[in-house]
Amino acid sequence: MNAVLPPTLIDGKAAAARVLAEVGSEVLTLKASGIAPALAVVLVGQDPASQVYVRNKVLRAEECGIRSLEHKLPAETQEADLLALIHSLNADDSVHGILVQLPLPAHIDETRVLQAIDPLKDVDGFHAENVGGLSQGREVLTPCTPAGCLRLLQDTCGDLSGQHAVVIGRSNIVGKPMAALLLKAHCSVTVVHSRSTNLRELCRQADIVVAAVGRPRLVDADWLKPGAVVIDVGINRIEEDGRSKLVGDVDFDSALTRAAAITPVPGGVGPMTIAFLMKNTLAAARLQHPATGLPLSTVENPA
Ligand code: GUN
Repeated sequence: MNAVLPPTLIDGKAAAARVLAEVGSEVLTLKASGIAPALAVVLVGQDPASQVYVRNKVLRAEECGIRSLEHKLPAETQEADLLALIHSLNADDSVHGILVQLPLPAHIDETRVLQAIDPLKDVDGFHAENVGGLSQGREVLTPCTPAGCLRLLQDTCGDLSGQHAVVIGRSNIVGKPMAALLLKAHCSVTVVHSRSTNLRELCRQADIVVAAVGRPRLVDADWLKPGAVVIDVGINRIEEDGRSKLVGDVDFDSALTRAAAITPVPGGVGPMTIAFLMKNTLAAARLQHPATGLPLSTVENPA
């Protein structure tokens, strides 16, 4: 890593297109053995951002030959009715992946819902069985955003062994599984968060920074060691110069002056999340049909 060279812009769109092409051809192989992978996406309520995410997931699934089933439920849906839907999808052999879009309305217990999903169909990797499996270093269905970030890092840096990675943020969706994946890839991992007292100093020690904290442009050049590789998971909408903009957790222009490689927002991590959802759906279909003999391998890791 050399900060004297111009920084590499990590192109998440191109990387996602490669992953989707891999998935598309593996879907054809699976279909040839009589299995048509299918993903059920459940949306409760009308949150505009969630509606966009769900539409994109369904479109992407169709593009790579995965059948998608959309279940749109009203915001007033009772938890028992949502659980009944999940149980029926669990029992349906033609459905391989189940995704319940978060956040759920406040009257529904998120943990109870996520725990109701069959772990073999849990394409988000949020069930405790899969969370535990990941922390034990087992091959399980793994959360899509951190899996996508790891792929970007491996494509950019190659072997990550011995690198010091600092993960900013400790959410169940990104920060915690990201830390587990980086450990599995033989990094030394530090997790920092909003209550850490010396965020900037800790971050400055990092070879790899993954920012997933939801604070617009928190990380600037001053937080980075020269030559650091920066993955920006943040998607923050701000008003600036009289218009609405999407910015990451990293001050991109400032970070460019120090980083060896960096993801833009948008066009960095975002497209990889959906691509890994498709990879997980394929992996879930294989898990449910072990006789195909095809490997799970959603996340490539050196032994
Ligand atoms: N809401 C924001 N990110 C995610 C995600 O990765 N999965 C689900 N199910 N909901 C989300």
